[in-house]
Amino acid sequence: MSDVSLIPLRVPGAVLCAVTGFPVSHSRSPFIHRAFAEQFGLALQYERVEARPGQLPHTLEQLQELGCRGVNVTVPLKEEAAALAAQVSPAVQATGASNTLWWNAQGALCADNTDGTGLVRDLTLNWGLSLKGLRLAILGAGGAAAGVIPPLFAAGVTAIVLLNRSQARAEALIERFQALGTISTLQPEGATVPADLIINATSAGLSGEAPVFPPALLSPQTHCYDMFYTSTLTPFLAACQTLASCNRLRDGMGMLVEQAAAAFALWHGLEPETSPVLTALRAR
Ligand code: ATR
Repeated sequence: MSDVSLIPLRVPGAVLCAVTGFPVSHSRSPFIHRAFAEQFGLALQYERVEARPGQLPHTLEQLQELGCRGVNVTVPLKEEAAALAAQVSPAVQATGASNTLWWNAQGALCADNTDGTGLVRDLTLNWGLSLKGLRLAILGAGGAAAGVIPPLFAAGVTAIVLLNRSQARAEALIERFQALGTISTLQPEGATVPADLIINATSAGLSGEAPVFPPALLSPQTHCYDMFYTSTLTPFLAACQTLASCNRLRDGMGMLVEQAAAAFALWHGLEPETSPVLTALRAR
């Protein structure tokens, strides 16, 4: 759906929410939010609304007119969403990006970012990791990496090694976040010790690729997490398996469900159960 005025089928009596971005046609958010709503008997109409860069103000205006309660924002509009909001959460201030919007009683646009919470909850509650004192390596220095670094520090991570294909971008993020904790990049001549946890925050998976990184970052004990997900093993997780026989592998579907749960709680004041929804999503 590219024009919000095309929501002629506004379900009477249902709460309206939406996800917007480009592309948006493959978004799993409608499935997840509808499954959460069923847990509470909440009548929810959740739509995909396509918007390209620059179109977000118009899209939001139309959704607000339709009485929309909340909007999830996906790539490539997260930074634009943060810039448009009149009230932003500390998570949006720290990351400069928003994935969750709503309007307050005065009609002002409010923004939060639940991606980091989603990742931390998936790592700790669903995967059972304790983040304190972990040697953590993050691959990528784009919006996805920037969005999770502050919440990972807030959750007790003390040191992050950040690697990116273009070194300049890694250094820019390091400068931006150095006040939050120890964050550095690998020096070419420096010794590499295996990470306890390695997170792929690059978009390489979108083109079916794994990012290139020093294999010495991996040991068979390394937990390997891909923020990307596919119906089979992602290229990054497959590379970890091949390079160091890693078998502690997890993709980003749990993060997706957890960030949605945090958005759902913000909009409706209800805390959904995530594990049955993750199971149902994986079974699809
Ligand atoms: P996002 O919002 O998803 O993070 P982005 O800001 O465009 O998107 O950033 C994409 C990230 O994935 C960058 O870190 C990019 O590396 P560069 O900064 O060097 O471009 C990384 N990336 C994309 N494709 C990659 C590939 N094939 N191998 C390694 N890194 C890749």
